[in-house]
Amino acid sequence: MCGIVGAIAQRPVAAILLEGLRRLEYRGYDSAGLAVLGDSGRLERRRTLGKVARLAELIAADPVSGTLGIAHTRWATHGEPATHNAHPHLSGERCALVHNGIIENHNELRDQQRADGYVFTSETDTEVIVHAIHAELRRGLSLVESVRKVSQRLRGAYALGVIDAADPDHLVAARHGSPLVIGVGFGEHFIASDVFALLPVTNRFIFLEDGDLAELSRDQVRIWDRSGRLVERPLRLSTVSPELTERGPYRHYMQKEIFEQPRAIADTLEGRLMDDRVLPEIFGTQAAGLFAEARALTIVACGTSFHAALVARHWIEGIAGLPCQVEVASEYRYRRHIVPERALFLTLSQSGETADTLAALRRAKDLGYLATLAICNVPESSLVRESDLVFLTHAGPEIGVASTKAFTTQLVALLLLTIALGRFHQLDAATESRLVALLRSLPGRIDEVLRLDATIAALAERFIDKQHALFLGRGEHYPIAMEGALKLKEISYIHAEAYAAGELKHGPLALIDEQMPVVALVPNNILLAKLKSNLEEVRARGGQLIAFADFQVPLEETKGLTIVRLPETDDLIDPLIFSIPLQLLAYHVAVLKGTDVDQPRNLAKSVTVE
Ligand code: AGP
Repeated sequence: MCGIVGAIAQRPVAAILLEGLRRLEYRGYDSAGLAVLGDSGRLERRRTLGKVARLAELIAADPVSGTLGIAHTRWATHGEPATHNAHPHLSGERCALVHNGIIENHNELRDQQRADGYVFTSETDTEVIVHAIHAELRRGLSLVESVRKVSQRLRGAYALGVIDAADPDHLVAARHGSPLVIGVGFGEHFIASDVFALLPVTNRFIFLEDGDLAELSRDQVRIWDRSGRLVERPLRLSTVSPELTERGPYRHYMQKEIFEQPRAIADTLEGRLMDDRVLPEIFGTQAAGLFAEARALTIVACGTSFHAALVARHWIEGIAGLPCQVEVASEYRYRRHIVPERALFLTLSQSGETADTLAALRRAKDLGYLATLAICNVPESSLVRESDLVFLTHAGPEIGVASTKAFTTQLVALLLLTIALGRFHQLDAATESRLVALLRSLPGRIDEVLRLDATIAALAERFIDKQHALFLGRGEHYPIAMEGALKLKEISYIHAEAYAAGELKHGPLALIDEQMPVVALVPNNILLAKLKSNLEEVRARGGQLIAFADFQVPLEETKGLTIVRLPETDDLIDPLIFSIPLQLLAYHVAVLKGTDVDQPRNLAKSVTVE
């Protein structure tokens, strides 16, 4: 999704802005640009379709120099990906602006501005903002007053960075529904969509709240809240080291993140277990009372996080003994609800900034849930700040658009939640002790699965010329099959679908022929006999079956059936184990196909618009 960087300093800022944009590339974008208030007092703008590297080449060929500037990576919503739609947008020679979000009333604002004589050079919803600010500047308002006045007329979501060629000493920022952080330096200040962009220049941050307006000068930051009151927001030190966001020896961030999973899971468990028990307060000090009172759970999330929620439904109902509903956030927000009595509302999100999930949380707050709980990977995210209870996964920054370690650490968090909740309902101490032992064993077990990397890389070759693939699972492995299909489609662009294996005969069996690879998850559980019959249905029709199977499943390789054996595991943690080979498979297929693994086309890491 769009990324913003801005800087006001005593040194030239172009290189800082470019590095910031590079660090935001993981969010996904189609064009990039920057504007610097040049030493001559004129706004210098460079924009391009495509990568930040291309923008850097443009600037190398035609340099800009100045100590105040803003920059942007754009992910098209209104107007095609094109240089003329890339940000910053200018109004006259005076005002430059970058924007993340969507302005819903852009049409009515544009009509008025056309009537006032403004000429539009893009099809974006953003351009109306810069002209509106320009009009206020012309009336003699300061930059910050102009942005305040215009914000009151905007409907929709936005984070803004604005500069005025007539005011070399201020950078103004505003946040309403899209994330924005201020980086605090010494004699210099910065803005960005997230902290990663600014780690090379500072580790001190102020997180703007919704409705905040900020005026940055070189030695001061002033912030007003939505009611116009001057406020102090806390200064926080980031513990994320710049190296954590480096790719290291890996070819792609996704590969690095797949291999980081044993460490990420160990970090997520750290401080959460004591002997053979889950520590009581890991979901917050009020959690015990609320968990005892709870009679149901609703989980809302998007994409990969939604798949983690679907796995959790099996655990919450099967192990903790509470009814559990799961829904995609984009649907949840737009329908009427009958909220079960004494239900908890849980959101799952890697980024904590997914617009649909945030909107669902805000909606749920009016619906009479007992409390809201967020499981999230980003401590300062909106989701974390707006939820009653919080559990942070400690996966570390996830840069690849395809979620991997965030998913498995969410599953770990959800197992911990199952135990913490279940203790007040149907979970006995012996099962808790067994689960805790299994959780502790996870990093080692995942290390073992990762040793299948070369085997899976070889299998990936079978997918290079395929247009379609099917993924099959049953029970809690059905959502893992869904996640495997999502991974494959998002980074290799192969159309992939997941089915609960028992559903094959109700339609998708018609798709099976010798061209169709079918990936099946075969754990050693009570559904094994049923699943084997489903696989026979595929084999009998010539489908090319690849089975990821538990080490002791009685299954023989034959024509049309390839088996990859997984190391010894256990029913209760199987979904985590089985998700790893599917991540590796998607990764290797994408590498062989030569796609942009970390920034697949059309996708964004953090989906901050609806
Ligand atoms: C998965 O690989 C995707 N990146 C996507 O489905 C993602 O999980 C979804 O957009 C939700 O993001 P979140 O966890 O940050 O809320």
